[in-house]
Amino acid sequence: MIDFSDKIVQILNHGALNLGLGYSLKIFDVMDKIGEPAGLEALATATTLDSRYLKEWLGIMVTGKIITLSANNQGEETYYLPKAHADVLTRRAGNGNLGVYTQETPLLTVSAMEAIQKKFSTGEGVPFSNYPRFQAFMSQLSNAKHKQVLIRDFLPSVDKGRLVERLKQGIRVCDLGCGEGVALNLMAGAFPNSRFLGLDNHEKAIAIAKNSAQNLNLANAWFKVTDAAQIKGDNSFFQKFDYVTAFDAIHDQSHPLEVLKGIRTMLKPGGFFSMIDIKAATRLKNNLDHPMGPFLYTVSLMHCMPVGLNDKGSGLGMMWGREQAEKLLARAGFDRVDALPIPNDPFNLHFLCQTLNNK
Ligand SMILES: C[S@@+](CC[C@H](N)C(=O)[O-])C[C@H]1O[C@@H](n2cnc3c(N)ncnc32)[C@H](O)[C@@H]1O
Repeated sequence: MIDFSDKIVQILNHGALNLGLGYSLKIFDVMDKIGEPAGLEALATATTLDSRYLKEWLGIMVTGKIITLSANNQGEETYYLPKAHADVLTRRAGNGNLGVYTQETPLLTVSAMEAIQKKFSTGEGVPFSNYPRFQAFMSQLSNAKHKQVLIRDFLPSVDKGRLVERLKQGIRVCDLGCGEGVALNLMAGAFPNSRFLGLDNHEKAIAIAKNSAQNLNLANAWFKVTDAAQIKGDNSFFQKFDYVTAFDAIHDQSHPLEVLKGIRTMLKPGGFFSMIDIKAATRLKNNLDHPMGPFLYTVSLMHCMPVGLNDKGSGLGMMWGREQAEKLLARAGFDRVDALPIPNDPFNLHFLCQTLNNK
């Protein structure tokens, strides 16, 4: 057992590590490419960063045991990022990339710390406009999460491979809460015979998604600014889709039950809905050994829960958990819900929902 004050000292040190700077400034990627110990000036040249700032940051990394310090034959101090560290901290790590997450706590702190402190007294939500850099960050996360595995592993796992066969032939798909369209554009690129519609209520994100689809010459991808809570009453969506996805988007909704009911009406009879959400339990006592518990509850507190409280919303938060999710999906009227593991993704669950008839 470590003494509690030792534990706090460790927390202070680990919390101060500032890995997010190394990730966002691509210092880790550059050091990984160099692949051997390098001196300060060589690193400054390779990263095109100021050597005095770099030196101070390297002090953090070396004492934090992220980067190792040695000396070359001329006695100059050199810095080396071990390959095993680069394997999880750099962009090449694909969906094993934990580096991208190191930016999240600083980003949410800068965006919302003051507002959250105030809302602790009032219980109100924090407007999405407090998070101007959130969508761009989500795109980085989405790219890391989806690029290697969405087409290769995830879609083939749906309905025992039958979904992919139908995607190849040509079906209608909607991605709800699509953000800047990373997942949707990947799917549209992989299945040119199918038609894809991305919905989000964030105008700027939709504009960026459209632009990316254009740059990728995707003729089968469309995007529309839409409030997901209003879909249910909108005839233009009624029974139009064979497959609907929501990646990491339902727990952020102010009115998740309305949204889920809307999704159910969008589906053709027999259609599927894939809700991808954080793998956690609803009761705190069942999350005691969650490998990322403190991190995920923090992201929830600093973003997901307060944005979900807006518009007199339910504020589910990211850690709403499997039991609550299953209850809500049942209340929305899905005939069948299976909570499935996701290949190569230990942190999310796939709620595969089916609707047999949808009045
Ligand atoms: C955590 S982000 C996930 C984005 C994207 N699916 C991804 O995985 O990168 C949640 C998304 O839900 C969108 N959203 C929140 N409330 C919404 C609503 N009422 N209608 C439509 N989209 C909404 C947000 O704008 C945001 O893009």
